[in-house]
Amino acid sequence: MTQIKNICCIGAGYVGGPTMAVIAQKAPGIKVTVVDINEKRIAAWNDADLSKLPVYEPGLDAVVGEARGRNLFFSTQVDEAIAEADMIFISVNTPTKTYGIGKGMAADLKWIELCARQIARVSTTDKIVVEKSTLPVRTAEALKSILENTGNGVKFQILSNPEFLAEGTAVEDLHAPDRVLIGGDPDTEEGKAAIQALVDVYAHWVPQENILTTNVWSSELSKLTANAFLAQRVSSINALSELCEKTGADVNEVAKAIGQDSRIGPKFLKASVGFGGSCFQKDILNLVYIAQSFGLKEVADYWEQVIIMNDHQKRRFAENIVRTLYNTVSGKKIAMLGWAFKKDTNDTRESAAIYVADYLLNERAEVVVYDPKVSKEQILADLDYLGTRSEAENRDLITVVNSAYEATEEAHAVAVMTEWDEFVALDWDQIYNAMLKPAFLFDGRRLLDKEALKAKGFEFYAIGS
Ligand code: NAD
Ligand code: UDX
Repeated sequence: MTQIKNICCIGAGYVGGPTMAVIAQKAPGIKVTVVDINEKRIAAWNDADLSKLPVYEPGLDAVVGEARGRNLFFSTQVDEAIAEADMIFISVNTPTKTYGIGKGMAADLKWIELCARQIARVSTTDKIVVEKSTLPVRTAEALKSILENTGNGVKFQILSNPEFLAEGTAVEDLHAPDRVLIGGDPDTEEGKAAIQALVDVYAHWVPQENILTTNVWSSELSKLTANAFLAQRVSSINALSELCEKTGADVNEVAKAIGQDSRIGPKFLKASVGFGGSCFQKDILNLVYIAQSFGLKEVADYWEQVIIMNDHQKRRFAENIVRTLYNTVSGKKIAMLGWAFKKDTNDTRESAAIYVADYLLNERAEVVVYDPKVSKEQILADLDYLGTRSEAENRDLITVVNSAYEATEEAHAVAVMTEWDEFVALDWDQIYNAMLKPAFLFDGRRLLDKEALKAKGFEFYAIGS
């Protein structure tokens, strides 16, 4: 029986940080060291002020506060942490490739391979290596090949343990996961022992029936599939939101009516300005690429449609703003409330707000943004990354302010981009009075009470009604 005493996690990001914090919290007998090459990020994880952690997640400060310094450590000493660990999680980024073969579709596994080579170089004792990052099916084969051929004769077992947490509810999801998935090699004694060792780590707090074990390939593919299914539901309801707008049906009522069918279920049927986040688009593109590489054209086309629909939804929201404002937003002040890709996170990766802002800036609008958790630097970096215009132009055209009231003052229109609770509680009379008239309000999240806001005088447009 292998009992894990020392865990190293490479990658202190949105997944590595919270996941390891919860393992350390729930298994105080295991030393957990989270390492990263990003010194600023590690310094933030070590900040005495827990409100400065690099990842904002409700409840995370308390978890880190409980375990940090006891059995949870954040460090830039990658080699040392690898050397002393029995189990190494790889939780580094796997973004869509931006160059070469598979550009714009395949996952870039550069950082994964670098980790594997580093583990192989540093290790002098046997290790269990766990894929925590989301990876294309059969990546474990490549990892095995690197570890076994460049190592020091050390034995490695490779497990797949994809993470299903959603941002904004990461701590909740980690404390009570619907399931933990562990893929390994059930055909050898060493493989079985490695699977059991990881099961035992989670068994500190996850009921046995929620811990699923499979072969490695099923585990790797299940992660991509889960995200594809979830995103597909959002694109399906968003496709119907457009039809609702044409027919007088209301997408919330349709979602409720179909979601009450226990075979369909009520979750992930909220129409929106389009899904964002670092995972959905990247993982579906990866799935499409894998299907294409096996020559499965119809399979690839089927899943690609989920992305096509999502791009359409973001674009048509922006187009509707321009069309409604008498076909021009040039020189008009548009207040965007929210920049994060969903509420309760400071993450902005692939947020619909970025694309809507870019569209409005192309139409020469003066865009003013307020988000309770996203910094001005991040908003500018997101726009710069698109490369649509120069950094100087972005800084000229967009303003970031510290409150919703400041953003909406003398605005021609307000666009709700993220469903932050505080937007519901705003004094909408005050906002109405301070805006130019007609006061246009575009709700990209179905967050606000349409009838109440219309009664206050707003020209109100909501997705799907
Ligand atoms: P992230 O970009 O927030 O964090 C990755 C970290 O890895 C970065 O801080 C980076 O500096 C570090 N890193 C990269 N190469 C390194 C190396 N060689 N040595 C040390 N550190 C290195 O990414 P994330 O959002 O945490 O995602 C990580 C993985 O988890 C991805 O594969 C993602 O698809 C998957 N995932 C993400 C989520 C999510 O909600 N964000 C959920 C489930 C799965
Ligand atoms: C997702 C998966 O849910 C999670 O299991 C996986 O580990 C990582 O990817 P995340 O991207 O953090 O998590 O958030 P999620 O709640 O799935 O939302 C993704 C996007 O879809 C957000 O922009 C959200 O606003 C949008 N969404 C979600 C909708 O527009 N409507 C819905 O009904 C649900």
